[in-house]
Amino acid sequence: MDTIVIYKSKYGSTMQYAKWIAEELNCKYFDAKDIKAEDLTEYDNIIYGGGLYAEIINGVSLITKNIDLLKDKKIAIFSTGITPLDCRDYYDKMVIEKNFKNGLPENIKVFNFLGKMVLSELSLVHKTALKTLKKIMSNKENPTEMEKLLIELCDADGDFSDKDAIKELIGYIK
Ligand SMILES: Cc1cc2nc3c(=O)[nH]c(=O)nc-3n(C[C@H](O)[C@H](O)[C@H](O)COP(=O)(O)O)c2cc1C
Repeated sequence: MDTIVIYKSKYGSTMQYAKWIAEELNCKYFDAKDIKAEDLTEYDNIIYGGGLYAEIINGVSLITKNIDLLKDKKIAIFSTGITPLDCRDYYDKMVIEKNFKNGLPENIKVFNFLGKMVLSELSLVHKTALKTLKKIMSNKENPTEMEKLLIELCDADGDFSDKDAIKELIGYIK
């Protein structure tokens, strides 16, 4: 069974996971910028990964815009993000709703891994976006639990990546 891993990564976190997954499955991994949807048709198993940016999986439209073309494939999509694992029950459902407006097709399973956010590495645009988000949320009179979480996340600083987390995805593909 031919398998391919594709990733889109701004700061290297998703690329690290793509590399780990490809090593474990003994297959190749590619930057999404070098891949077109048509290239994917020759594979049985497709793994796509992207960082979460405002709950959107970076570049996931490569898959979501080609659901019909890829309907016979086994697909794993993974995100990397900094939302702590204890919020994941609620958060992971939201990620699916936001990224799959027409519902999650049966041939696709979504996995969410902890990634990396090192504040000193962020682009000016991203630093400003986080600052603005924090300001807006902090000015709310009665912030919801989600809004409180967002304020906290704006200050997260570190690499929370964990190679062990890929086991479930590997099991799904094998
Ligand atoms: C502007 C901005 C928005 C982000 N939004 C989210 C988010 O909605 N959910 C989350 O869990 N992480 C969020 N993150 C954290 C990134 O998803 C995380 O750092 C990810 O591992 C980056 O992956 P990459 O380096 O492969 O692009 C955000 C980071 C930035 C800079």
